[in-house]
Amino acid sequence: MSQKNPQWEQEIAKRRTFAIISHPDAGKTTMTEKLLYYGGAIREAGMVKGRKNSKHATSDWMEIEKKRGISVTSSAMDFEYKGHRINILDTPGHQDFSEDTYRTLTAADAAVMIIDVAKGVEAQTIKLFKVCRMRGIPIFTFINKLDRHGKDPFELLEEIERVLGIRSYPMNWPIGMGSHFSGVYDRMKSRVELYQDGSQHEDIRFFEVSGPDDPLIGERVGQDLWQQLQEEIALLDVAGDAFDMELIGKGELTPVFFGSAINNFGVQTFLDNFLQMAPPPSPKKSSVGLIDPYSHPFSGFIFKIQANMNPAHRDRVAFLRICSGRFERGMTVKHVRLGKEIKLAQPVQFMAQDREIVEESYAGDVIGLFDPGIFQIGDTLCVGQPFEYEEMPHFSPEFFSRVMVKDAMKHKQFQKGIMQLTEEGTVQLFRTYPMEELILGVVGVLQFEVLEYRLKAEYGVEITLTRLPYQIARWLEGEKAALDALKNKTVTDRYGRPVMLFESEYQLRMAMEKYLNIKFHESSLGL
Ligand code: G4P
Repeated sequence: MSQKNPQWEQEIAKRRTFAIISHPDAGKTTMTEKLLYYGGAIREAGMVKGRKNSKHATSDWMEIEKKRGISVTSSAMDFEYKGHRINILDTPGHQDFSEDTYRTLTAADAAVMIIDVAKGVEAQTIKLFKVCRMRGIPIFTFINKLDRHGKDPFELLEEIERVLGIRSYPMNWPIGMGSHFSGVYDRMKSRVELYQDGSQHEDIRFFEVSGPDDPLIGERVGQDLWQQLQEEIALLDVAGDAFDMELIGKGELTPVFFGSAINNFGVQTFLDNFLQMAPPPSPKKSSVGLIDPYSHPFSGFIFKIQANMNPAHRDRVAFLRICSGRFERGMTVKHVRLGKEIKLAQPVQFMAQDREIVEESYAGDVIGLFDPGIFQIGDTLCVGQPFEYEEMPHFSPEFFSRVMVKDAMKHKQFQKGIMQLTEEGTVQLFRTYPMEELILGVVGVLQFEVLEYRLKAEYGVEITLTRLPYQIARWLEGEKAALDALKNKTVTDRYGRPVMLFESEYQLRMAMEKYLNIKFHESSLGL
């Protein structure tokens, strides 16, 4: 079992699977577009647009679907570039930000964090960053929009360290900014990339120098900017962190790149460096120990379920991250939770607006499986001896509502609908004690509207949602007696685990100080 399979080895080693994390408007769509463009996966920049319209909430589910456009259909995008197979996992932002966004990160081997130079580290980035941190995956930073005036680069690095708690190593350094933006100095390769429009030939855009004090730089960008660059690089060399590949691999040091995605500036340099540093698929924890991607036959887990991929058919697609071995269309695999064998006849991959049937895939890839209602988030599929990957964590919702069925006669359909929709994983279900009232928790408020609409459309059930003032959920860990003593103050999640809800950070802090024998977890990971 520990022998690497030579046929798979090359295929798996060339795979790089990552997610982009950012706050809305930082430039994720633009960056994705440029990356796909380099990979030849789209013919022209502009094809990944469309999600912009989704900024405004709407109560019509079909409208939501239509407007979510590409962000729905392209849950994973793949392309070949310089001998690598790249899988970009989409992390929906804007209003359709949901727990899916967090879970997608559990299927990524690395993350690319995009920061707007003027805005710095923003709220959604912090939340997504925390999840990456928890998993210890490497994080690569791209500071975007250098063609606009923004914060001082040193200030940004300090902010990244202070707010996110990660050290940074600038791989390149901007020469000027905004209307004075002239290019970047590459610290690793000792060369300058001049900021001109992307159509310039590489020889003109890039020039080698002996170091930041090479007078050639002054000739090309002007004496003032050159002087500033020399001072700043000197400061970085003395006061900055050293480059350390081991720390980068553990997600404790982030390589930082500066650029302007819309102008296609710095994107290719970023991609080339990223591919050298980002890891291929690595062993993953399971109920039987670490599963090696190279030697273990096919296995994977479901990290996302998307309903209504095709509104005409109301179908569900379950997204599977392959963690080991090779997948072949038509293969029979074990569905471990159900203890059943199933045949994977029509797996699909998604690209821009299209979906295509997959014939074979390898560890690192993501495939979509048509789901007749047999999959749940976190399900393991494998061949050979059955085992299960770690349970998919739940993350703290930020909006809570009490839910009741309007017509008591429809209680059965209501229960069925709620169970099925919570299995898809974008809404969390909690029960109060001792009344067993149902409370729903979501990460993005749009999910309430989606749930309400779908319960009516698919199960014929109308519900009443009453917003509750909570903003935070914490999973509790402690001795049984200590937890039992808190029963009246807690709710339980789908698996019966005790959870406490809070209206504010202040309330949470008070509880943590009061109940010193209890641990308060931000996610259900490892519980
Ligand atoms: P998102 O997916 O992270 O939400 O961001 P998106 O790429 O859609 O970019 C948000 C806005 O920022 C867009 O402008 C986009 O054109 C702009 N943008 C992205 N990269 C850069 C950059 O390097 N420099 C500058 N100056 N702007 C950039 P918009 O006006 O909101 O949309 P659009 O009309 O351009 O599509």
